Amino acid sequence: MSGNRTFTMIKPDATASNNIGAILQKINEAGFRIIAMKYTRLSAESAGKFYAVHSERPFYKDLVNYMSSGTIVAAILEKDNAVASFRELIGATDPAKAAPGTIRALFAKSIEANAVHGSDSDENAQIEGNFFFSELERF
Ligand code: CMP
Repeated sequence: MSGNRTFTMIKPDATASNNIGAILQKINEAGFRIIAMKYTRLSAESAGKFYAVHSERPFYKDLVNYMSSGTIVAAILEKDNAVASFRELIGATDPAKAAPGTIRALFAKSIEANAVHGSDSDENAQIEGNFFFSELERF
């Protein structure tokens, strides 16, 4: 059975362009409940650890620089079938390929500066949520 939690970050391009509120509204309207939320900034070291799974990819260095270039919002979200449902809401990684009306189609600037992150599995949702939030910070 698929889990009911996922993890997201609103990325530096979207916080810089004042789209935090609009993106959270989309998330709420799609029926997700916010379990934990934090407005923060990643060091290059933390961004590198968070995206360690991509460390062999050609875009890794740029991704780490970008993700540590500004503020982000990290959140744990709850809804039935959360991982798949959230990935549908945000659209494809590349905003040029994201379906109309999805968060990335509406707010992303490029394949790297793509407005939001969404976990790709229940296992990663748990790992990524734990990266940002302690037991005490979740409701
Ligand atoms: P995200 O879903 O957070 O997971 C990995 C991130 O790497 C991705 O979103 C993009 O921000 C970034 N990225 C940059 N270039 C690429 C690429 N060619 N393919 C996939 N992800 C990329």
